[in-house]
Order: sequence, then C-alpha cells, then structure tokens
Amino acid sequence: MATKAKCIGILTAGGDSPGLNAAIRGVGKAALGFYGMRIVGFRDGFRGLIENRRLELDRSTLSGILTTGGTILGTSRDKPHRMVINGRTRDMTGVIRDNLKKWGIECVVCLGGGGTQKNALRLHQAGVNIITLPKTIDNDVAMTDASFGFATALDIATEAVDRLHSTAHSHHRIIVAEIMGHRAGWLTLGAGLAGGADVILIPEIPYDVETIAEAIRQRSKHGSNFSIVAVAEGAMSRHDARVFASAERNLERAKTLNEKLEVKREIAALEVRHQGNTLRLARHLEELTHLESRVTILGHVQRGGTPSAADRMLATRLGTACADLIVAGKYGVMVAARGDDAEPVPLEKVAGKRKSVPPGHSWVESARRVQTCLGD
Ligand code: F6P
Repeated sequence: MATKAKCIGILTAGGDSPGLNAAIRGVGKAALGFYGMRIVGFRDGFRGLIENRRLELDRSTLSGILTTGGTILGTSRDKPHRMVINGRTRDMTGVIRDNLKKWGIECVVCLGGGGTQKNALRLHQAGVNIITLPKTIDNDVAMTDASFGFATALDIATEAVDRLHSTAHSHHRIIVAEIMGHRAGWLTLGAGLAGGADVILIPEIPYDVETIAEAIRQRSKHGSNFSIVAVAEGAMSRHDARVFASAERNLERAKTLNEKLEVKREIAALEVRHQGNTLRLARHLEELTHLESRVTILGHVQRGGTPSAADRMLATRLGTACADLIVAGKYGVMVAARGDDAEPVPLEKVAGKRKSVPPGHSWVESARRVQTCLGD
C-alpha cells in the first residue's frame, strides 16, 4: 500500500533490554516495506538527535536483527532538557525540534521505559511529533499490559533461581539472589513464583528480617535445610522504607532550592547505602538462622542476549502498530499492549506514572497460597 512518503526517525533510550531490535525491525519493516516511508535511526538515545549521528535503516540493516540482543542503535540515559554538552548542562529541547524540522523528519519513535516516556512528553509539548513504545525488564511502564524485555528477563531470572536450588540444597545454605528492579517487584515476584523461591522480597512490600528468619527456621524444622531468597534490588526493610518515605515527604515539603538540594543529597546518600542491602540481608539471615548464606547478584545478565519468543512477538506487534499510527498522524502517544491488541495512550497518561505491584495482585496472592514468605 503506497501512502505519502514520510521520513521518520527512531531511537532507543534508557537501559537496553531484549526485544529492542525486534521492535526497530517491526517499526522499520512496516514503515519502509509496507507503507513506503523512509526511516532513519539515531544513535545513543536523544544525543544522536543533537549530534546528527544516524544509521540509515534500509532493508539490509533491518534484516537479521529480530533475534539479536541489545540495540543496533546504541542507547544512553541522556535527557533532552538536561544534557551535558562540553561539560555544561543544557536544555537541548529547542535544538532537537529545530534539527528535526531542518532534516525533514516528520516524527520520532522513541523506544524506552519510564524515563523515556517523560522525556518524550516534554518533546511532544515542545512541538515534536513523537510516538513511544514501552520497553523495560522491570515491567513498570504505566498504562500497558506488558513491556518488551520483561518476558526474556523473567526467563533468565527464573532459570537462575532454578539452578540455585540444587547447590543451596547440596550445601544446606541460604542463597540470596538479587534480581533487578529498584522500584517495581514484577521481575522478582515473577521469577520467585516461577522458580519456587522460598522467600520473595519486593519494593512494594517492606520486610521484617525476623519474619524471614522464622520462615527459614520453619523450613529447616520440616526437613528443608536450605532456602532460596529472591530479593529485588529495591526491596527494603520496614525501617528503611520508613526512612525513605520520610525523606521523600521532606522533598515534597521543601520550599527553597537550597532545602530541595539538601533533601536530594540526603536521598542520594540513602540510595548509596542501600546498594549493599542484599549482602547485609544475607549476613543478617546467617546470624539469625545459623545457616551458611551466599549471595548471587544476577545484574545485567538479565538484560543480555537473545529475546524470548514472547518478547519478539510483543515488540513486532507494537512496532507494526506504531507504523499504522504514524500513517494516521496520531502523535503524542505510547503504543500500549492491551490483551492481544495494541492501542495508543496519550503520553500525559503514562509519563511520571509507575505500574507497581498492587498489594492484592493475583501473583502476590498465589505466592501466599503456596506459603512463600513475602517478608511481611
Ligand atoms: O530499568 C531497567 C534496569 O535494568 C533496572 O532494573 C536496573 O535497576 C537498572 O536498569 C540498571 O541500570 P544501569 O544499566 O544503568 O546499571
């Protein structure tokens, strides 16, 4: 089907995740082959739009990338409104808008997580035609059933939890497996459920270490002298959760710039301290249960390698739906997954929101039913 030839741009921003290349291919093949548009990739996130670093996406560039991990475009966490240029932080929003106009690029497709949705909304409000796709292994982008990257990371983390069982069992140990997710516990909860972790700790449910120790002691009493603890990066004790919540309240109340800066420094210091949380938790559990403990931090392994079939499908579905929206000139939206369909959601409804695990979510309830300790 031939339509008016449009030139569109595409970029990947934020942390990478499996399925990005499948999405680039989905948008690209539909835009180029099906609708007859031109498509240009910008390198390393929003920075590529400023430095005019491009990758022309033609049939051969789009070929063979469905199954590859990472992003052929490169990515960065640069924000258009706060970009470091020659050592100075500058607002480059206007530069991006003017560049796109000058280059005749009608619309930019941004593939990213929560931060990217916010950056895209700012650009849209400044007059740039934008469409976003949701990607993140954290699964926390609002207003979409799913984000690509999550399904693959879930498989990887589940396999890790599976593998840890036999070694924990052999040595009668506690193994504390740290899984990605600073603010949302989907990945840890999913991998913990699928992998049969004995304890699952997520940011949405602050824990009490004595409750966890007691659950582990009970397992030992019933003959299971080992335990797997799946802990999200951002999970925290009730005490730490109260300290963070109070600092965040102080930030909301801060009136002057100096007050705000001071509270922000305080929060940054708390975050640095929290980085050692998993190690401290394992040590604490060892003291309380007298079972030897070990820590496994899965880290970026969860973001690497070939995307799962589920992520390839999702990325292709959302990518091709995105091309349809470009043809219809429907901008300022994220292409969300709704059951088997894809639908546009205004960026205003997505940006700045997070999809957290609700307290009574069915995954949480299922975990409780199989007597997994959630630390509360
Ligand atoms: O947001 C995705 C994510 O993988 C988080 O789960 C993790 O905390 C973070 O990115 C790590 O980011 P970076 O790649 O910058 O270390």
